[in-house]
Amino acid sequence: MARILITSAIPYINGIKHLGNLIGSQLPADLYARYQRGRGNEVMFLCATDEHGTPAELAAAKAEKPVAEFCAEMHGVQLDIANRFGLSFDHFGRSSSDQNKKLTQHFAGKLDEAGLIREVSEKQVYSNTDGRFLPDRYIEGTCPNCGYERARGDQCENCTKQLDPTDLIEPRSAISGSTDLEVRETKHLYLRQSAMKDQLDAWIDSKTDWPILTTSIAKKWLHDGDGLRDRGITRDLDWGVPVKKGDQDWPGMEGKVFYVWFDAPIEYIACTKEWADANGKADAEWERWWRTDKGADDVRYVQFMGKDNVPFHTLSFPATILGSGETWKMVDHLKSFNYLNYDGGQFSTSQGRGVFMDQALDLLPADYWRWWLLSHAPESSDSEFTWENFQQSVNKDLADVLGNFVSRITKFCRSKFGEVVPEGGAYGERENALISELTRRIRAYEGFMEAMEVRKSAQELRAIWVAGNEYLQAAAPWSTFKEDPEQAAAQVRLGLNLIRLYAVLSAPFIPNASARMLSAMNTLATDWPDDVDAALNALPADHAFTVPEVLFAKITDEQREDWQTRFAGTRA
Ligand code: MF3
Ligand code: ZN
Repeated sequence: MARILITSAIPYINGIKHLGNLIGSQLPADLYARYQRGRGNEVMFLCATDEHGTPAELAAAKAEKPVAEFCAEMHGVQLDIANRFGLSFDHFGRSSSDQNKKLTQHFAGKLDEAGLIREVSEKQVYSNTDGRFLPDRYIEGTCPNCGYERARGDQCENCTKQLDPTDLIEPRSAISGSTDLEVRETKHLYLRQSAMKDQLDAWIDSKTDWPILTTSIAKKWLHDGDGLRDRGITRDLDWGVPVKKGDQDWPGMEGKVFYVWFDAPIEYIACTKEWADANGKADAEWERWWRTDKGADDVRYVQFMGKDNVPFHTLSFPATILGSGETWKMVDHLKSFNYLNYDGGQFSTSQGRGVFMDQALDLLPADYWRWWLLSHAPESSDSEFTWENFQQSVNKDLADVLGNFVSRITKFCRSKFGEVVPEGGAYGERENALISELTRRIRAYEGFMEAMEVRKSAQELRAIWVAGNEYLQAAAPWSTFKEDPEQAAAQVRLGLNLIRLYAVLSAPFIPNASARMLSAMNTLATDWPDDVDAALNALPADHAFTVPEVLFAKITDEQREDWQTRFAGTRA
């Protein structure tokens, strides 16, 4: 049994995520986690809310709530939506947890001991109108790299370049819009990433199986001159992890906090301790996932994230871990995604443009969205959500292909043989041909799932469903029945067994429908079909089943048009 550690980039606490966020990390991570569990492997799947820094403060201010209260509330909201989307985290933590505070301060102390932190007296933008410093997202302006006009002080969303507020052209306050800004001196800690350039370079070079999107972004920032310049890891903010070295005060750093991108990835680790603490487990239980001298050397660690997160995960976070000189588990595979666009433009949280997770679930159950998003994952390039495409995929793949198969075979069986698997004879030539085709396709599906090729996995799964439909169409038990009821019975037996097989194979994509199929087939047998022939004999003659309710309803043109207009504008 393999042990697989899976983390999804942790979403900012600032609001409910849109479908573009969902397909960029959490959903494909869930697909992989469910698949690996289905294969019988031991999985630890983690996510959390990213609660510090300017996104949290700005959102709390907008909601007119104290930031701690806002975060506690939004964590509950995000957790609930994650559950309703079937995101099967082993733990959904909070970066503001005590565990993360301690671990973040611990890392800072270790980095300082290793001589990798220096104090810098630097110039920061101060807003006279707002009476405060404006770090990171408190400031907006034009990106010096690509000219994008809404770049933020910490990163340009458009070209992914990491920025400092003083880099922005025509800067303005994100709080008041004021341009009455000045530059003031303040003291901060810098992580000496540049001292680790060769080490990081060698580490990235050793990752020969990473997607091109991942390594190209990492290499770009590593070699682009200033990509690996030392970066400030502290901020003049009230909300965050107080700056300390381990449990010692840090002279000169009183009242300052760590930068959100310093503590957020550390939460991947702290989250596992939160999981252990919440479940009354000893530290050894989480350490066996993270400390290579305590059992984690045989763990495979996979991270999922959108492309804008790649520089932090390939450079900054590894610099923190490597720099500590301790035995922490490093990422083995980093799967990154391009952006999903919405109907001719971008999804946007700040502008409320697109469909948000809670709204999506008000329209249709999670499986409809999961299927569309995963089968259109923005892997090799950006992809686009349109209502027409959504309607088409759902109606064709889920209703016509899978749903129709299930309904046809169960109803036919009920009408001719009752709600039990009929006996019939042995499988014949046509059945054996289907078994070979399915065997070939299931092996291909496994290959794509292992490789995290999300779209290709979806295509293969769909082809597996289609093969069953084509079989049914060609075997036509409704005609066979007239001359040869025995043969028709065998065909129906195969069809019912296919439903169980489809439930097992499809569970990572559409867990709810899969559970309903299993329950209709009245079985708990969910072993992975290593032997397809055996899998198609799992439900024996006389096994009772029930005809399920319609699995997937079609989306009507009326519904589509209605939703199209409702979601054309922006959310208040
Ligand atoms: N909150 C960040 C975002 O949504 C992602 C943080 S990932 C972590 O872009 F590594 F920092 F945890
Ligand atoms: Zn840019």
